[in-house]
Amino acid sequence: MGHSAVLLTVALASLLAPGAGAPVGRQGSQNKLLLVSFDGFRWNYDQDVQTPNLDAMARDGVKARYMTPAFATMTSPCHFTLVTGKYIENHGVVHNMFYNTTTKVKLPYHATLGIERWWDNGSVPIWITAQRQGLKTGSFFYPGGNVTYQGVAVTLSRKEGILHNYKNEKEWRANIDTVMRWFTEEKLDLVTLYFGEPDSTGHKYGPESQERKEMVMQVDRTVGYLRDRIRQSGLDSSLNLIITSDHGMTTVRKNASDLVEFHRFPNFTFKDIEFELLDYGPNGMLLPKEGMLEKVYEALKDAHPKLHVYRKETFPKSLHYANNPRITPLLMYSDAGYVIHGRVNVQFNNGEHGFDNEVMDMKTIFRAVGPSFKRGLEVEPFESVHVYELMCRLLGIVPEANDGLLSTLLPTLQDTSQGPLSTPLPTLQHTSQGSLGTPLPTLQHTSHRLPRTTDGSGSALLPSGWPTLVTGLLVAMILLGKVA
Ligand SMILES: *[C@@H]1O[C@H](CO)[C@@H](O)[C@H](O)[C@H]1NC(C)=O
Ligand SMILES: *[C@@H]1O[C@H](CO)[C@@H](O)[C@H](O)[C@H]1NC(C)=O
Ligand SMILES: *[C@@H]1O[C@H](CO)[C@@H](O)[C@H](O)[C@H]1NC(C)=O
Ligand SMILES: *[C@@H]1O[C@H](CO)[C@@H](O)[C@H](O)[C@H]1NC(C)=O
Ligand SMILES: *[C@@H]1O[C@H](CO)[C@@H](O)[C@H](O)[C@H]1NC(C)=O
Ligand SMILES: [Zn+2]
Repeated sequence: MGHSAVLLTVALASLLAPGAGAPVGRQGSQNKLLLVSFDGFRWNYDQDVQTPNLDAMARDGVKARYMTPAFATMTSPCHFTLVTGKYIENHGVVHNMFYNTTTKVKLPYHATLGIERWWDNGSVPIWITAQRQGLKTGSFFYPGGNVTYQGVAVTLSRKEGILHNYKNEKEWRANIDTVMRWFTEEKLDLVTLYFGEPDSTGHKYGPESQERKEMVMQVDRTVGYLRDRIRQSGLDSSLNLIITSDHGMTTVRKNASDLVEFHRFPNFTFKDIEFELLDYGPNGMLLPKEGMLEKVYEALKDAHPKLHVYRKETFPKSLHYANNPRITPLLMYSDAGYVIHGRVNVQFNNGEHGFDNEVMDMKTIFRAVGPSFKRGLEVEPFESVHVYELMCRLLGIVPEANDGLLSTLLPTLQDTSQGPLSTPLPTLQHTSQGSLGTPLPTLQHTSHRLPRTTDGSGSALLPSGWPTLVTGLLVAMILLGKVA
């Protein structure tokens, strides 16, 4: 997208809000936002299980047919895309594991959650942006929510312990109760809430297992509990709720002929490798020793029909993954169902993710409900980079530069009093449930609010009512200022 357009918007915001950078003291009437992620919830997990609460939420709000996560379809990278609006190569959280190719240090997922320099790599996530613009935010177990960014911490944050049991339904309800108190007593405006299921169960038993179906029913009960608690907390008319996830899940192929095993490849030897990150589902990175890159590449490029090995420069641009200094000179992924084994086979999961984000089994969910959203609307698939712009719009904050477009999800919102925003995309359609019910209250606008970004072109929009001439002059001044 036009980063310059975002710059322009930010420039306008600074101009209109003297002392910008400091909180601008907006309080009160703005709607709150709760972003919930159920890790590894594949797009169609509700199709072979009764999910009355998710179904009710779709009738009351917005549902995407599916959402396309960023590549590589891993937990931390994809969660960070949701809160930054950037592709993974642009935010730098390229893996669930922290690694350093010089020291050879590799840290597992949970330890990486606490490594500030892994997360704070030049992108400012939505919590921090919202706080800088006067809002209060919270993160409950959400990946990336428990470190500081440019020295700033999320207002209220919880991190799970190292041996956390991610499937305890009673604890899920207690966590929801805590988040409700954060909204009502601590007056938070934005909270991100993370659940580690159905990912763990999908890995362990496989996505087609009975265990996974039962876990989806647990998720559905939790959605019902959450919506009840929102009502009981008096937040029904002031809280927007988004339920989404990071990626899907596919069944791992385990026949001998299906195995991608580095220790069996002819002409390949670990003696040529300086640093390796393998045994992580279908994803792998290699730093060959000085002068060995071509030899290693030649040995690997046709080593297995389901393995795709690339030099960093030739990795498919459409995956928006390799153009980052953290990515090693050689990287690879395998086709759906095939996982990559390194020196010995140590992966025994029955379900896995990390595959190409165009594989249907990697697609995930997006659902939303609340005072700002239309009712009974099903939208066509979109990429997860667009959720960030929507969230900034819902909170009335100026977004950072990002890869998303507000126009993608703007048609999911109720018409606002803000004047023409954008015409609905032709791909959008109302679901057969049809009945849109009584119109809900439209977005309330406070006099404190910052100018919003706008329509699909990403151009800046001034608060309605500004005389066109003044607007034009302002834009001209900023454009000239940029050129000068
Ligand atoms: C890796 O660790 C070394 C030694 O601590 C450090 O000098 C280097 O900057 C680190 N590299 C990266 C890419 O973080
Ligand atoms: C991002 O991390 C890399 C090392 O992994 C480091 O070399 C680089 O300076 C960091 N960039 C920023 C902006 O923090
Ligand atoms: C991380 O979470 C703990 C509670 O689990 C909290 O005490 C701490 O302040 C948080 N740290 C940051 C930087 O958010
Ligand atoms: C291999 O795996 C597939 C599914 O993963 C299975 O249907 C098939 O029967 C297995 N056996 C052989 C010999 O292909
Ligand atoms: C291994 O190397 C030999 C000699 O260079 C070559 O003939 C052979 O085709 C290679 N095998 C594979 C699988 O690349
Ligand atoms: Zn995940």
